[in-house]
Amino acid sequence: MTAAINLVADIGEVLVSEAEIAAKVADLGARIGADHGDRPLTLVSVLKGSLPFMADLMRAIPIPVRIDLMEVSSYGGTSTESSGLVRILKDLSASIEGEDVLIVEDIIDTGLTLNYLLRYLRGKKPRSLRICTLLDKPARRLVDIPVDYVGFTIPDQFVVGYGLDYGEFYRNLRFVGVLRPEVYSSPPE
Ligand code: IMP
Repeated sequence: MTAAINLVADIGEVLVSEAEIAAKVADLGARIGADHGDRPLTLVSVLKGSLPFMADLMRAIPIPVRIDLMEVSSYGGTSTESSGLVRILKDLSASIEGEDVLIVEDIIDTGLTLNYLLRYLRGKKPRSLRICTLLDKPARRLVDIPVDYVGFTIPDQFVVGYGLDYGEFYRNLRFVGVLRPEVYSSPPE
């Protein structure tokens, strides 16, 4: 797969441009700041897909924030389908008890990953727990998730870029694009 990757030719369509992302991040950051007043906020990002969004969003929020990172992997699924079985690869590095927490996600698809994370983080007794996702794919939702901030609602297409991957590649694209189906019709090696 590595040799065949072509960052330009593999993208069928740009779904959300770099400029649209930048404008949305600025808007979300201002809203999040206004909603939290001067109470400090802890942003919890879920690696690896949320990395660019987290880096941009935290700088768009005009109130004091702390950040923490988790990494989860779903197992039992395929490269384009999540299974809902979640394994924690990296846990929080500090307690969130009594804190206002905002989960920063790249995309909510079936909602199974976030559903697991929500239950896990609620168990750590934060004062409040909210969710911000850059992308929402509601067509495939299997569980109801209370999402507080959504960047873009997108159709049921497999997308890459701005952190999102296929077989760990394409994360460094500056935009969100639809991967040509022929790229994932042959599974990654
Ligand atoms: P969910 O558990 O089905 O909501 O899936 C959540 C995770 O699946 C996301 O955090 C992504 O890592 C991955 N995912 C879902 N849809 C896409 C997509 O269109 N492109 C890349 N990754 C995706």
